[in-house]
Amino acid sequence: MNKIEFTINGKKVATQAEGRTLLVNLIRDELKLTGTHVGCDTSQCGCCTIHLDGKAVKSCAILAAQADGANIVTIEGMAKGSGEQMQLHAVQQAFTECHGLQCGFCTPGMIMTAAGILKDNPNPTDDEIVKGLEGNLCRCTGYINIIKSVKRAAELMKAA
Ligand code: FES
Ligand code: FES
Repeated sequence: MNKIEFTINGKKVATQAEGRTLLVNLIRDELKLTGTHVGCDTSQCGCCTIHLDGKAVKSCAILAAQADGANIVTIEGMAKGSGEQMQLHAVQQAFTECHGLQCGFCTPGMIMTAAGILKDNPNPTDDEIVKGLEGNLCRCTGYINIIKSVKRAAELMKAA
């Protein structure tokens, strides 16, 4: 077992994991942050995307031990506050406004990837959004409203 310490959604965590444990399994099974989804076993769907030290990454493609010392944000850490005081992240707000989801299974990963795209490029073109999201698969929406959502999120972030 490896000792692992990291910060996740602003909270410090000290835990242990076997060398072969994937970060996504630690996040879901041990920390019970089940908003990070698992949609494949081939690192293709992007449902498991989180932010690791500010970069959007597929948490099924990273060993838990590799997260030692890292700063992690999952979908649960995107909104600020809770209950009636909760304020959605601009990307969450935009997906809501633009109907960027249907079943919602891919949505946490889409939102984390979209937030990563906008961090690096606050004003992306449609082509840049499509390219940025190519590692995230959605079987419901046809992607049109997802692209609209990312553009809307860019507007909201500029206005904020
Ligand atoms: Fe990680 Fe599909 S579960 S890419
Ligand atoms: Fe259903 Fe994307 S909304 S998989």
